[in-house]
Amino acid sequence: MPQDANAIRSILSLAPVVPVIILDDVSKARPLAEALVAGGLPILEVTLRTPNALKVMEEMGKVEGAIVGSGTVRTPLHMQQSVDAGCRFMVSPGISPRILDAADDIGIPLLPGIGSPSEAMTAAERGYSFLKFFPAEALGGAPVLKAFASPLPDITFCPTGGITPINAKTYLDLPNVICVGGSWIMPADALSSGDFARVEALAREASALRG
Ligand code: 3PG
Repeated sequence: MPQDANAIRSILSLAPVVPVIILDDVSKARPLAEALVAGGLPILEVTLRTPNALKVMEEMGKVEGAIVGSGTVRTPLHMQQSVDAGCRFMVSPGISPRILDAADDIGIPLLPGIGSPSEAMTAAERGYSFLKFFPAEALGGAPVLKAFASPLPDITFCPTGGITPINAKTYLDLPNVICVGGSWIMPADALSSGDFARVEALAREASALRG
């Protein structure tokens, strides 16, 4: 079926920031997810960019309050593997016809990425009203999404790529932005040293960005 707008809206409206997670160390999955949830960020995107990403996803899914999705989904196989790992939503960097066709057959909502009005229109023709805008800063940032609002009033975005605590609010203040995604909440040194208190503090700051 086409994107279930109510399902994806209800997920993406739970927090202003979706942590975009790149993690291979399965032993850190639970404490990381616990820190993010405790800091007020329950929507977690685990990218399929590491060999153990699916195991990380499974572990994070066991954390109370966490809603774990799959990111960097680029193939139908990625989709099936993510469903098997218990993902609750999926994010792809683009809108290849293959990925949209496969999503039609899977009852898990997909948030596909676009970078231009033409791609947004293509996705809308396929039934998508919630899209990722990627890579947001490199493509011109919040002014581009502001410019999308008038000609594409039926489309709501989650921008990701280059978002920071400094520029996040500029995006979140736009009426066509439901949330932003980013990795800044999990600095590499905090992850490698297991400093989950720092992650929780960064998550708490991020969760207060809207409101
Ligand atoms: C990504 O694709 O890695 C995400 O969009 C996160 O980007 P960021 O690391 O710039 O926050």
